Amino acid sequence: MKSQAQDILDGDAAELDLLVSQMKDLMVGYVNESRKPGALVVEYKLPEELKPLIDLDLPYTGIGIPGLMPMLRNILRYSVNTWNPGFMDKLYAGTNPVGIVTDMLISLLNANSHVYHVSPVLTLMEDCVSEKLAKLLGMGERSGGITCPGGAFSNQLAMLTARNYMFPEIKTKGYCNFGKKLTVFTSSSGHYSVEKTGMALGLGLDNIIKVPCDDQGRMRPDELEQLIIQSLGRKETPFFINATAGTTVLGAFDPLKEIGKIAKRYKLWFHVDGSWGGSLIFSDKHKHKIEGSSLADTFVLNPHKLLGTPLQCSFILASDRQIFKQTNSLGAQYLFHDDSKYDLGDSTVGCGRKPDAIKLFIGWKIYGISGYKKRIEHAFKMARYLTNLVKNNNKFKMVLEDPPNLQICFWYIPKGMKILDREEKETKKYQTWKEQMTLVTKEIHKRLRERGRFLFDYSPLELNGKELPIFFRVVINAPSINEHYLDEMVREVERAGEDVLEYLEENKILQDGLRSENHHINGNYNVNGNHSVNGNHSVNGNHSVNGNGYIYHNGVEKLE
Ligand SMILES: Cc1ncc(COP(=O)(O)O)c(C=O)c1O
Repeated sequence: MKSQAQDILDGDAAELDLLVSQMKDLMVGYVNESRKPGALVVEYKLPEELKPLIDLDLPYTGIGIPGLMPMLRNILRYSVNTWNPGFMDKLYAGTNPVGIVTDMLISLLNANSHVYHVSPVLTLMEDCVSEKLAKLLGMGERSGGITCPGGAFSNQLAMLTARNYMFPEIKTKGYCNFGKKLTVFTSSSGHYSVEKTGMALGLGLDNIIKVPCDDQGRMRPDELEQLIIQSLGRKETPFFINATAGTTVLGAFDPLKEIGKIAKRYKLWFHVDGSWGGSLIFSDKHKHKIEGSSLADTFVLNPHKLLGTPLQCSFILASDRQIFKQTNSLGAQYLFHDDSKYDLGDSTVGCGRKPDAIKLFIGWKIYGISGYKKRIEHAFKMARYLTNLVKNNNKFKMVLEDPPNLQICFWYIPKGMKILDREEKETKKYQTWKEQMTLVTKEIHKRLRERGRFLFDYSPLELNGKELPIFFRVVINAPSINEHYLDEMVREVERAGEDVLEYLEENKILQDGLRSENHHINGNYNVNGNHSVNGNHSVNGNHSVNGNGYIYHNGVEKLE
């Protein structure tokens, strides 16, 4: 039968019909399963366990369509199911049916949105949706933008555009003839893509200056200004400030208005990385958190995070929509014939482009601003619910008592373990405590991942110049998350916490410290490195706990 063909020259509508109808059943069944009680987010396997299960052998003679469905089923089985509300990893969530259909449309068209004449409709949609976003952010009459493959690449294009605009001679003559040292300012909680861009543009990581944050993870404008002044004093050329609207770990919002004013005062480019938090512009209730977005020269916003469009969908917006083309175009005539403002690829450093904007365009049409507002506000409601669950449970401790965003960050506190005050300076005792807490977090996380009902990450963080123990970072994003899942998730963490304690005590890792003040953590105890606990659960080395009051027996010291 022709539709069973495996010959690449025979692909036709009948074959598509066969595949799509089978695929439909597979997809609908998959989504259905993900919402059933007890459904797993992931059947987690280590790489060596997984390799034999997914047939990585690439054949000379193709397996043909009969082999396709079993293979697809296997891919689904061992992949992470982001449709499951137990998926609370960073910082995206499962998409929605409209997202799937839009992605199918993109594949059907297989359109390339580098030049207008091969993707006329999609180009106009990109132009339109970018402009609408920029206007919502208050970026002015001339504002607009384009898409880029992800937040990190969007940040990169922002800095490149700023540099080419402010110092066009670098574009032609190169940085080594420039004679001045450019400096960039970003907060200590900013995304690493800013540093990577500094690396890629040849500025040097040492010239990406980290501005300290306050105790809520927000960039401190006073410190920013001081650092700019110091940089000028060293005869450097400060040129670019990256403020973050929704930091990656804590979700903090840098004070955009104050930072924007500093940028204007010193004539620096003001970029806002709103990859995560920029989408709050769709919510009347929460958009005040990004007040000051109107001052940005460039602003990045990722609908593939908070708005649930399929990956990837990231916009880079500018107060002057022509600036990307003006600064980055090389006008390659073999591709960009007519100098059309609609040949969007010419504004980037790339060539071929996926028409990602249509994912937001169609979503916006279907759900409206009111739909996105509802999604965002539901997420905040659930984040508040989880915050209260955690706060009211003495087995947990929040990293920030009132999370500014949808990341709920917390520790599980083993029975008997004191919570060290964040204000205390980093002593050896603190180090010991930090290592113990880190070990507990990682061990719980490992068990949760193996059980597969919930998937979220953990993170380290330096706050106020002090390294915190690694903590859980649960991201509330998917509209399918409800109170029931959050109750269950907290119970799962508690259960895993009890198992971990039992295991650590049995293996004499925490036991001494939990039960006595007279033991020491030995220097061989390497929580972050190759500690055998993370592997096959064998325990070796000399583990004991520093006796100077940081890890206490239940009865010896009352916890807070
Ligand atoms: C603040 C921030 N900026 C940029 C990025 C990078 O986004 P992407 O993964 O889309 O490249 C992230 C990713 O989490 C982020 O949190």
